Amino acid sequence: MTELNPAPAPENGSDNSEIALEVRNLYVGYYEDLHILQGVSLKAQRAKITTILGANGVGKSTLLKAIYGFLKPSRGEVILNGRNVVGTPTYKLIDLGLAYIPQQPGIFRWMTIEENLELGAYTFRRDKARIKRKLEEVYARFPVLKERRKSLAGKLSGGQQRMVEVGRTLMTDPTVMLVDEPTAGLAKLLSEEVYQMLVNLKESGITIILVDQEIRHALKIADYVYVLELGRNKYEGPVEQFTSPADIKKAFWA
Ligand SMILES: Nc1ncnc2c1ncn2[C@@H]1O[C@H](COP(=O)(O)OP(=O)(O)O)[C@@H](O)[C@H]1O
Ligand SMILES: [Mg+2]
Repeated sequence: MTELNPAPAPENGSDNSEIALEVRNLYVGYYEDLHILQGVSLKAQRAKITTILGANGVGKSTLLKAIYGFLKPSRGEVILNGRNVVGTPTYKLIDLGLAYIPQQPGIFRWMTIEENLELGAYTFRRDKARIKRKLEEVYARFPVLKERRKSLAGKLSGGQQRMVEVGRTLMTDPTVMLVDEPTAGLAKLLSEEVYQMLVNLKESGITIILVDQEIRHALKIADYVYVLELGRNKYEGPVEQFTSPADIKKAFWA
């Protein structure tokens, strides 16, 4: 394995439009002084895939939840498109271009695909013309959802259900998408569809922050990699430096 850079000390980076989302020195926990994240920092380049790796329980999902406003950091900053958004409620973060695909699939199985997608338009639910326009954009991106728009979402394959979730977030034109283990529990072929979808999203200009246990897959599509260890940055670097998944596992999970 090539030499990896140790994580640099947290710094106060300057505003840079190439950076779509930055986390600076974040401390977050579920109970008062018990910080799960202890000074995590990262930068996500615009229209790139930044992946966050690390063993089970190091705080990857906690980090995404904190960025999305579900948890309130006790210290640190989250800079979204140049502005500090710590403390901003989630519905406003959505307006500012943030989207989140949680680890647990969240589609409504007994609603149609179209009804699931329309939920993504909740914040502008009275603007029928806009909803229609956004639906057409999602259908143009995912023609299979258009074909099956009246089918119950529960009848879709696991990969297509992920597509519905992503489609639902696209209704609000996100610039940054937080994606937590999108292929957990999916068969290999379906996983590949999901990863291809993430690559397509990136190519259309969306910044992706991908948390994944599937190291091999994540490294195939990522541009930049962060490795966390128990709530702290451990390693980071361009994906080219992370050449062997087996070595990485040994180095980080041992
Ligand atoms: N809702 C919660 N309440 C209390 N502790 C939690 C909660 N969710 C996660 N944790 C704890 O936070 C730590 C990090 O969890 P998580 O962010 O889910 O890790 P990862 O996604 O890296 O596997 C774990 O020790 C976990 O037990
Ligand atoms: Mg997790």
